Amino acid sequence: MYKYIILKKVCGVSNSFGEYFHITTFGESHGKVIGVVIDGCPSGLEITSSEIQKEMDRRRPGQTDIMTGRFEKDTIEILSGIMLEHTTGAPIAIIIRNLNVDSKVYEKNKYTPRPSHADYPALARYGKWVDINGGGRFSGRITASFVMAGAIAKKLLSRYGIKIAAYARSIGKIVDNNAYSISDIGYILDSTGMVNKNCADKAKELILKVKSEKDSVGGTVTCITENLPPGVGDMVFGSLETKLSGAIFAIPGIRGIEFGLGFSASLLRGSQHNDPYAISKGKIITETNKAGGIVGGISTGMPINFTCAVKPTPTIGIQQKTVDLECLEDVTVVFEGIHDPCIVPRVIPVIESLTAIVLVDELIGNGIIPRKIE
Ligand SMILES: Cc1cc2nc3c(=O)[nH]c(=O)nc-3n(C[C@H](O)[C@H](O)[C@H](O)COP(=O)(O)O)c2cc1C
Repeated sequence: MYKYIILKKVCGVSNSFGEYFHITTFGESHGKVIGVVIDGCPSGLEITSSEIQKEMDRRRPGQTDIMTGRFEKDTIEILSGIMLEHTTGAPIAIIIRNLNVDSKVYEKNKYTPRPSHADYPALARYGKWVDINGGGRFSGRITASFVMAGAIAKKLLSRYGIKIAAYARSIGKIVDNNAYSISDIGYILDSTGMVNKNCADKAKELILKVKSEKDSVGGTVTCITENLPPGVGDMVFGSLETKLSGAIFAIPGIRGIEFGLGFSASLLRGSQHNDPYAISKGKIITETNKAGGIVGGISTGMPINFTCAVKPTPTIGIQQKTVDLECLEDVTVVFEGIHDPCIVPRVIPVIESLTAIVLVDELIGNGIIPRKIE
């Protein structure tokens, strides 16, 4: 552990995640490819490329008028680790190619960092050779790697009846406060990601309005996991909340996460907030689930439920104040390029994917998922 920390400090190893289902992600927004290498995936899992592609298509840009106009097919290429539609136990490498790339606007704004994007902090951290074309490694595009690995993790979890689904709980000030189970959510494609039709229509209108005003809007995404057995997680720094939060904060644009009632729990008394235990059909359940399925860092057996705050897309077409890094002067700039007016709809499959990756890592670690599937 100590050795690992030293290595991390010196080499900046920050593109890999997981102990047992270990992913290494690579590629930049305007580079040749985006990809992932998964080491530790059990052998014998049946998975087709169309199952992975289906998940990728949920995240793909340029699908509707509420998404970025960057059109990419994001067709996956499986390079290794899957043979005859089964995982072999060897590292699985998957890529997509970046085809719709135009770095000209980024060249133009090279010395005028975009407010609230990673341009300036990345330059401060990595120096002048950092690739920030299209956001480089800080672009939403890197989340394609999470979805490639997430598709495999989800397939693994499905063998144990564990299901994950996320939806947009709010977009701007349009909030859907209904509680949903996974069967209510279904598969949300090509939309705002909201479940309630009335909210979805309003949200679409709002996104189109902010887009026409060359602005952007944020929102929240709720993610639910059903059928995770009790006892998954660990104490102290190994808590399930820690692992999930760590993974979720790898997604560019995430500003917060709360489990169960989260911050609102602080407004209640213990008598209002506690989840009473009960026996139902011979199983231990809680009558309510204000904890969001995790207590003491360990799953209770109730659905895992967390909500993430997604910020408004930083790159907007409105004139903004920034600085010229060469002349060290205040300037105003209008940033061009093609951007998502709202990240929320696109981040939904990404949040599901990272949740699946964390849970598979835990379940392989505690022996529930074997290293070889017969
Ligand atoms: C799926 C997805 C799409 C995104 N699209 C854009 C975009 O079009 N324009 C933009 O400026 N930021 C976009 N972002 C967000 C930025 O990448 C992010 O805000 C930036 O890297 C700064 O990181 P931070 O917000 O986590 O601090 C997107 C993020 C995701 C997850």
